[in-house]
Amino acid sequence: MFESLSALSPDPILGLSAAFKKDPNPAKIDLGVGVYKDEQGLTPILDCVSQAQQMLLASETSKVYITPQGNQGYINGMVELLLGHNSAVTSANRVAAVQAPGGCGALRILAELLVRVNKNTRVWVSDPTWANHIPLLGDAGIDLQIYPYFDKNSASIKFDEMMDCLSKVSADDVVLLHGCCHNPTGADLNKEQWQQLTALASKVGFLPFIDIAYQGFGDGIDEDAYGLRLMAENLEEVIVAASCSKNFGLYRERVGLAAIICKDQSTKDIAQSQIQSVARGIYSMPPSYGGALVDIILNNKSLNDIWISEVEAMRTRMAELRAMLVSNLEDQNVDKDFSFINKQKGMFSFLCIPPEQVQALRDQHAIYFVDSSRVNIAGINHKNVSVLAKAIAQTL
Ligand SMILES: Cc1ncc(COP(=O)(O)O)c(C=O)c1O
Repeated sequence: MFESLSALSPDPILGLSAAFKKDPNPAKIDLGVGVYKDEQGLTPILDCVSQAQQMLLASETSKVYITPQGNQGYINGMVELLLGHNSAVTSANRVAAVQAPGGCGALRILAELLVRVNKNTRVWVSDPTWANHIPLLGDAGIDLQIYPYFDKNSASIKFDEMMDCLSKVSADDVVLLHGCCHNPTGADLNKEQWQQLTALASKVGFLPFIDIAYQGFGDGIDEDAYGLRLMAENLEEVIVAASCSKNFGLYRERVGLAAIICKDQSTKDIAQSQIQSVARGIYSMPPSYGGALVDIILNNKSLNDIWISEVEAMRTRMAELRAMLVSNLEDQNVDKDFSFINKQKGMFSFLCIPPEQVQALRDQHAIYFVDSSRVNIAGINHKNVSVLAKAIAQTL
């Protein structure tokens, strides 16, 4: 049966990891896959997670299925994390939500729900966007359209062009926005831009679809939810896909949240039943473990404090790495001004160099990152930064 299909080439990012593993060069540097790494190049289990695991081990009495919507303590904790304490939207019971298998699972079930509402749903995504948005949404049958976002020449957001494009979309359209730490560019909207975009969404009527996979990695846990909270407070409807992979370091546990902010409680009841039925039709119930850990962390004061400080440590370290890379590049007297790297947020930066130079860095210096020139900032450390800066200088 399957001979009628053709073999596909490996996923570019996962293929890059495989090529890195195979490379015998001891000085190789991996700036590919979006995983946080410490100074030793490791992705350790967070201390708050280790402690929550002990608590879960001591208290878990069954492996029976959890409910289709997932762990309610987790869901409530995540909704509060996303929308803030005392959110009027939460108090008005306008939020439908399910625990999802990772941010990817959340994106997919929301896409499936949008197709249930209208099989011709159009979703506008930024140029560029995270490569996996395309299959996650497109394979659900979404008609994907692109809005201008990032200008490689000036390494800045094309905000006017973006607004102009989005002012012409239809009221039935959906606009995918990165809540913070835009992947792949690291270029985020500022507060004024979020305010203008919220006003535009209200005027045009499009539905904002906010993907927030790096809350806490940009400016702070609350600060990174600014745009999401602004839209949630000011618009009737917003949908949200959140991930706990990065900020809780729970990558392999697959834990995320799909949330739908509805115009009123009765619409919320409809949305809740529909999103659960979408999930039931794909994987039935979410895996329990990751959500149970996040439930413990968010709802236990001392673990929550540890988590906040661990997220802060990761965020601060990435900001320091950015500064260190920029100053090492300056020391190399490169012609190109790389100071924009300091303004970008989170785990990624676009070096804004052409694919041939990315390839040359891979072939000649064993430095691995994706062709778009997106680098994982967390892959830099005190030992490799000068090698990296020298290699970039030689390649430019
Ligand atoms: C922009 C964005 N959204 C969503 C995700 C989903 O993450 P996960 O499914 O690992 O939770 C990622 C992960 O890299 C991401 O970068």
